[in-house]
Amino acid sequence: MHDTSTLQQALAQNLFDAPPESAKALIETLGAIAQACAHISDIAAQGVLVGAHGLAESANSQGEDQKKLDVLSDELMSRHLGACPHVAGWASEEHERQQQSWDHEKQGRYLVVYDPLDGSSNIEANISVGTIFSVLPHTYRGAPPSDSSYMQPGHAQLAAGYVLYGPATIMVLTCRRGVLVFTLDRNSTRGGAPAVWVLTQDQVSIPVQTREFAINMSNQRFWEKPVQRYVAECVAGEGGPRMKDFNMRWVASMVAEVHRIMTRGGVFMYPRDTRTPLKPGRLRLMYEAAPMALLIEQAGGRAVTGTSELLDLVPDTLHQRVPVILGSHEEVSRIVGYHADPHENVSWQLFKTRSLFVQPQA
Ligand code: F6P
Ligand code: MN
Repeated sequence: MHDTSTLQQALAQNLFDAPPESAKALIETLGAIAQACAHISDIAAQGVLVGAHGLAESANSQGEDQKKLDVLSDELMSRHLGACPHVAGWASEEHERQQQSWDHEKQGRYLVVYDPLDGSSNIEANISVGTIFSVLPHTYRGAPPSDSSYMQPGHAQLAAGYVLYGPATIMVLTCRRGVLVFTLDRNSTRGGAPAVWVLTQDQVSIPVQTREFAINMSNQRFWEKPVQRYVAECVAGEGGPRMKDFNMRWVASMVAEVHRIMTRGGVFMYPRDTRTPLKPGRLRLMYEAAPMALLIEQAGGRAVTGTSELLDLVPDTLHQRVPVILGSHEEVSRIVGYHADPHENVSWQLFKTRSLFVQPQA
């Protein structure tokens, strides 16, 4: 059974102690994002029938190939944000620079950062993909935003969320008062009507312990020693130091990975590795790591780089990459402990020839 509140009604309840004008502006901004995502959901569900599969003939801000659905999703987000009077500007994975709103660059209260289609390598395989977004204050309201306006720590986020385009389309959202889950009523969008998102879970809470971890094992030889140790102990199972068996999962869509953790706990890692020292991780701070970190923390979990809390980081650039370790609180704290242990934190070079199954000698 679920409540029948819609997105707007649930947010009005959730933001009841904010000044009415700013609550209204935030609700309308999240409504614009939700409407864009409902369109993306329709297109993703129609797939090849509407030409949404395959590569676009372009590259994104980081020189990576773009899929057609990356480009379409980005355009839909831009269009809805551009029409929203409260949004002064936005930045996306698909563009090197921020885009300021033609009409609202000065009076808009908010900046929005987003990954329009996370996990897009999965589209043709018909595996879940998603959209990740973060709403920041436009601190110097009255002046148009620039790239530097976005250089705010994760703690400054006013709202963050993701939409998962899976068997059902769901939006998981925080306005810093816990985490709410909405399910898109797909019947509502027929004929171009405004989408109806129904509140289907109130106040998500991530179990503090887990028996499940997610990491791309093919990168094992590049991991630093604390992550090597954590995974080796999980894999050792009942006979190892954790004295329990673990499961491993890897969808290669961060949104799907985080949603699994929201529903049953677990740990997700895309840790620092030694392959390209100038790129300390794969995931992007502003529109992947920071919004997910806020959601995870609001649901009682923890999100770190290994040595710092993700929400403390202040970005230097829009597309900065960071190591990400997030999920069930006790597990993430254990991994932080391994990073803090000077004995464990010797150079990965000393460890790189060891197998996962061999415990390091003291
Ligand atoms: O956006 C980056 C991303 O697609 C994430 O959604 C996902 O977790 C990761 O990259 C997958 O990485 P890999 O290709 O190494 O499996
Ligand atoms: Mn992504």
